[in-house]
Amino acid sequence: MKYLQNLIEKKEKKEKISMLTAYDYASAKIVDRAGIDIILVGDSYGMVKLGYKTTLPVTMEEMLIASKAVSRAVKDSILIIDMPFLSYQTSEKDAVLNAGTFLKETNAQAVKIESLESNVDLIERLVQLDIPVMGHIGLTPQSVNKLGGYIIQGKDAKSAKKLYLLAKRLEQAGVCSLVLEGMTSESANKITDDIHIPTIGIGAGPHCDGQVLVLDDLLGMNPDFCPKHNKKYADMYNIIKKAVSDYKTDVESNKFPTDKNYIKMDKNELKKFNKK
Ligand code: KIV
Repeated sequence: MKYLQNLIEKKEKKEKISMLTAYDYASAKIVDRAGIDIILVGDSYGMVKLGYKTTLPVTMEEMLIASKAVSRAVKDSILIIDMPFLSYQTSEKDAVLNAGTFLKETNAQAVKIESLESNVDLIERLVQLDIPVMGHIGLTPQSVNKLGGYIIQGKDAKSAKKLYLLAKRLEQAGVCSLVLEGMTSESANKITDDIHIPTIGIGAGPHCDGQVLVLDDLLGMNPDFCPKHNKKYADMYNIIKKAVSDYKTDVESNKFPTDKNYIKMDKNELKKFNKK
């Protein structure tokens, strides 16, 4: 079993940290058994699995169902759960109750919060209450309306400095690690060098202490979506589509099921069964 403390040790030893999303029991089992350090039940669940246009509609209830399923599969990896939009912005009480619910009802070791200057104090309060928090800065998808799209951050000196100062404030607030999403590699490099907690990048270049991808993107599950930061390790959309088409053909041509797929009645029992 891995713990949050192991991530700091990895950073100190300059060993890279691997993180992937998972949203259900079956995929979490594969990710865990493959030895990935951190499994994140990201609020990307809403877009990837529930078909929402952004991450904003995802609810606590939906995240809790996915997180409990993932939690049942995880044996080794560190489980972290994303706080969905409006589960922490409304009040400190809501944030404590919702973050606490994730820790109470799953085996999660931390929650992740998209971090802005305006919520660093809230994050610090959660940490003081022994609710470990992973920060998340840069292209924060819950701020898509304010950002005006999924736009890479830290392109100019002023915005890179803002990200840097926010990362330092979050370190002081006690976050256990920091996701750096959608920012220039130079911004991510300087942040990674100057803070003691591990940084996990997505679209932030190679200098972070670890990397995270959305599992479905890595697997190539959606042919209409392959962002620049992603590397497609499999073409699962076409593999699954072919399997499903082959099944359809077999059903329609009576090739499935074969006698290997069903059981026949004992002959005597059959006679009795057919007797009028
Ligand atoms: O929701 C998510 O999947 C995330 C990762 C991309 C970091 O926040």
